Amino acid sequence: MIIANDLKWDKKLNIDTNVPDFGEEDYQNYGYDPTPYIVLEELIKTGYITKNDILLDYGCGKGRVEFFLNNQIGCKTIGIDHSKRLIDKANENLQKYGENSNINFIHSKAEDYNPKEANLFYFFNPFSVNIFKEILMKIKKSLITNPREITIFFYYPTTEYRMFFDNDDKSLVLIDTISFSEILNDFACTLKIFKLDTHNLF
Ligand SMILES: C[S@@+](CC[C@H](N)C(=O)[O-])C[C@H]1O[C@@H](n2cnc3c(N)ncnc32)[C@H](O)[C@@H]1O
Repeated sequence: MIIANDLKWDKKLNIDTNVPDFGEEDYQNYGYDPTPYIVLEELIKTGYITKNDILLDYGCGKGRVEFFLNNQIGCKTIGIDHSKRLIDKANENLQKYGENSNINFIHSKAEDYNPKEANLFYFFNPFSVNIFKEILMKIKKSLITNPREITIFFYYPTTEYRMFFDNDDKSLVLIDTISFSEILNDFACTLKIFKLDTHNLF
């Protein structure tokens, strides 16, 4: 659902991120749908993202998260996506927004990317929990060579993910939940924020 606020922000940032694209979706890898800007507005109010952070958006699509955070906070952002078509769109948006060394788009499957640099991770339903487990292990292993505090944001986690948080992995410690059920008229619409417990990783 595109709301007026989404059109307003795309225009302000001079980018084009509103149209969904499910052309390369399969049963493990989901298609492109942008996080509503209203959610990103609330995300930055939490204070969990600062200028000195490096945020990795797993499945960035056309790059909305990267442009918004760059514009509002100025932190470094890395967007990766397995779709060449979507990464090309993100880079077209970067041309229109204005080249910026703090915004990087990388064409890669999440499973093949080494997340050694980032300390914040953003997920809006890019893929199945099976793939997520692989990614989480990579994030944990990256702490061996680059010890750091890790914060993970999940927008609109599905039942599959919520079951994983509750039952399967004790290293993810929930620190905040923001509900958008009233604003977006959808009871399942939440942003969940976790810290990684570095004393309880494996
Ligand atoms: C729901 S969209 C989220 C877009 C963006 N993060 C946002 O919040 O506006 C999910 C994205 O994940 C990408 N994706 C799916 N499977 C992937 C994988 N295995 N590796 C990298 N990207 C993937 C899709 O191409 C899609 O762009």
